[in-house]
Amino acid sequence: MIILKLGGSVITRKDSLTPILDSSNLKRIAREISNSSYHKLIVVHGAGSFGHPYAREYAIGNKINSSEELVRKRQGFSKIQNSVNNLNQLVCQHLLEQEIPAVSIQPSSFIQTRNKRIIKADLDLISKYLDIGFVPVLYGDVVLDEDDKIKMAVLSGDQIVKYLAENLRPEKVVLGSDVNGIYNKDPKKYPDASLMKVVTSHEDLESADSTQTVDVTGGMGGKLGELLELAKIGIESEIINAGHDNNVKRSLNGEKGIGTLIKNEK
Ligand code: ADP
Ligand code: IPE
Repeated sequence: MIILKLGGSVITRKDSLTPILDSSNLKRIAREISNSSYHKLIVVHGAGSFGHPYAREYAIGNKINSSEELVRKRQGFSKIQNSVNNLNQLVCQHLLEQEIPAVSIQPSSFIQTRNKRIIKADLDLISKYLDIGFVPVLYGDVVLDEDDKIKMAVLSGDQIVKYLAENLRPEKVVLGSDVNGIYNKDPKKYPDASLMKVVTSHEDLESADSTQTVDVTGGMGGKLGELLELAKIGIESEIINAGHDNNVKRSLNGEKGIGTLIKNEK
């Protein structure tokens, strides 16, 4: 089994404040998935400009101080749920066009968090879909949170990947982003940044945030945090540049070392 995340930075124009799909990337990646050999595959995608700008605007996940704030956040939650669901439909349509048997699984319909971390999610149905050969497609979404002070949370695709991986134990976890992997510092801000082939702790880098100030789920630092947790329980993962031709295909076909490997020890 392989879990593949497609970052919002790859399938959308993440720097846009309104939702814009990167359809050429999505088309190409769907083709690459369809031309690769995998046994079982789960796709998780990010929200990009379909989620982050609204999540920031409505401050989902911040404390709710009044009934007026609850009304506004509820409105925002519905708007975000609808927007990321639209993106999910587009992703599934592109996969279907390549005859990949995608089934959409909406995180907000079965996942709950406490203090923004997943505490409830029944994965039985996902396992059943996988057994029959479907490709479940999940995505970064808004969900209900058990903490009464916040009531709602933004759930990143990266946290979903981590939860799925620790419970379903895939052979491979691949995260496609718009950079070649993890650098010692943000390669978009620092042209002299150097790519790390292996990362085993946060201390390996000088800094890791998101280039996009609109990213509400922690950017590259948040991603690395999830992946280091996986590494601790023996599940290695790799961050690759899914914006470059054939990287997704090569990785699904079993190639290692295309980007940055996140593991427990060097
Ligand atoms: P995605 O949308 O693909 O899930 P993010 O936007 O969350 O990805 O994170 C990717 C971005 O993180 C890159 O575009 C890059 O500019 C930024 N970034 C910040 N620090 C680093 C770093 N140390 N190494 C690589 N990328 C970094
Ligand atoms: C964010 O998901 C979800 C919402 C903003 C609703 P991700 O954090 O996985 O999205 P990307 O990949 O960074 O765009």
